[in-house]
Amino acid sequence: MTHRLVLAFALAATLTAAARAAPAPPLVDYHPSMGDLMTMAVQPRHTKLGLAGQARNWTYAAYEASELRHAFDRVAKTIPVYRDNDIAGAAANNMKAPLDALDAAIKARDAAAFTRAYAQATHGCNACHKSLEHPEVVIKSPVGSPYPDQDFRPRAAR
Ligand code: HEC
Repeated sequence: MTHRLVLAFALAATLTAAARAAPAPPLVDYHPSMGDLMTMAVQPRHTKLGLAGQARNWTYAAYEASELRHAFDRVAKTIPVYRDNDIAGAAANNMKAPLDALDAAIKARDAAAFTRAYAQATHGCNACHKSLEHPEVVIKSPVGSPYPDQDFRPRAAR
C-alpha cells in the first residue's frame, strides 16, 4: 500500500467516527404565536411610523407604512385562522382603510391628514383586539422614541 492510500483510509475512518460521535441536531421549526408576530412585526412598525410622522419624515414614513401593511399580509399567511377567526379578513376590515388614508397623507406630505389617518390606524389595531377578545391590548400614539440608534428626522433636518 502506498503512503497516500494509507493516509486516505485513515482519514476516512476518522471522518466516519466523527460523524457517528456528533449527529447533526435536528433544526427547530419555530412557529411564532400571534402575540410574537404582533410584538416583533407589527408593533415596532406602528411605533416607527408614528415617529416618522411626528418628524415629518415623509420618505421614511412611506417606507414604514408599506412595511406595516405587508406585515399584516405575513401575519395572515402565518396564522390564517386565530380562534376560528379569519385573520386576512379581520386585518382588511380594520386596517385597509386607515392604511390607504396614511398612504394618501404621506404622498401629499400633509401632517394634519397624517395625524388623522394615524389615529384611525391605531383605532383599527384596538378594534381588532376587541373583536378577537383581547381588549386589554391597548395601542396608542408613541411619545418619545424607544430606538436610541435610529434617526427619524428627515435628511434635511439632520
Ligand atoms: C387582525 C386583527 C389584529 C389587528 C388588525 C391588530 N392586532 Fe394586535 N393582536 C391581535 C391579537 C389576536 C392579539 C392577541 C394575540 C395573543 O396573544 O393570542 C394581538 C396582540 C397584540 C399585542 C400584544 C403583544 C404583547 O405581548 O403585548 C400588541 C402589542 C399588538 N397586538 C399590537 C398591534 C398593533 C400596533 C396593531 C395595529 C398597527 C395591531 N396589533 C393590529 C390581533 C390584531
